[in-house]
Amino acid sequence: MNRKITIAIDGYSSTGKSTIAKQLANKLGYVYVDSGAMYRAMTLFAMNNKFVGPSFLDKESLLQNLEDATLDFQFNASLGFAEMYLNGKNVEKEIRTLDVSNLVSTIAAISEVRKKLVAIQKEIGKNKGVVMDGRDIGTVVFTDAELKLFMTSSAETRAQRRYDELIEKGQDVSYEQVLKNVLERDHIDTTRKDSPLIKADDAIEIDNSSLTKEEQFAMILKLVEEKLRNV
Ligand code: CDP
Repeated sequence: MNRKITIAIDGYSSTGKSTIAKQLANKLGYVYVDSGAMYRAMTLFAMNNKFVGPSFLDKESLLQNLEDATLDFQFNASLGFAEMYLNGKNVEKEIRTLDVSNLVSTIAAISEVRKKLVAIQKEIGKNKGVVMDGRDIGTVVFTDAELKLFMTSSAETRAQRRYDELIEKGQDVSYEQVLKNVLERDHIDTTRKDSPLIKADDAIEIDNSSLTKEEQFAMILKLVEEKLRNV
């Protein structure tokens, strides 16, 4: 059990990828990387600089200023995971709003943005011992990951989970708005030209619509332990 592996978790929006990724990282003593947080932080950067809004995208200006966005993760010991920082500022709260969710897939479809973020992700994971979740982790970022998972569940289940999360955080959203966002992002993420969301051939598909968090964790931990016995 000494050799470290890479665990890549991909899937549609709000499929509980980050929940299982955090559970696994804590259990194994691995680093958890939320690649979606990076795309969300880049979106916030673009919004703050008026490069993108609900009805416009100034791609040229965004690309000209791409280097001005510095992203890094800082571990928060009391939370047990790393938080996202944009140009030295903790943006964890801001990047989880529906406003950011409504624009993130547009920004994530831009190849230059992906190139910048994928390079950072590869660097973080170069020594293995990483659990990373996103849309292209098993297909682009870590094609050689020892364990690849592809998470699915019904759009309604996913929207309900995300709606509950946002309400808990005190955000003023309706279930219909959240469902619309989930469906729109699924569409953009699966149909974009660069690194579309697709199940890697060697990924294990897990539909967690009717699994509790505990059942899902127990099931996936078995898969991890099996891999660790064979590396
Ligand atoms: O939490 P949720 O599953 O809703 O989304 P997220 O993981 O925070 O990702 C937000 C958005 O970033 C996705 O809808 C994708 O457009 C984009 N993304 C991506 O393109 N590639 C990744 N590896 C991760 C996220």
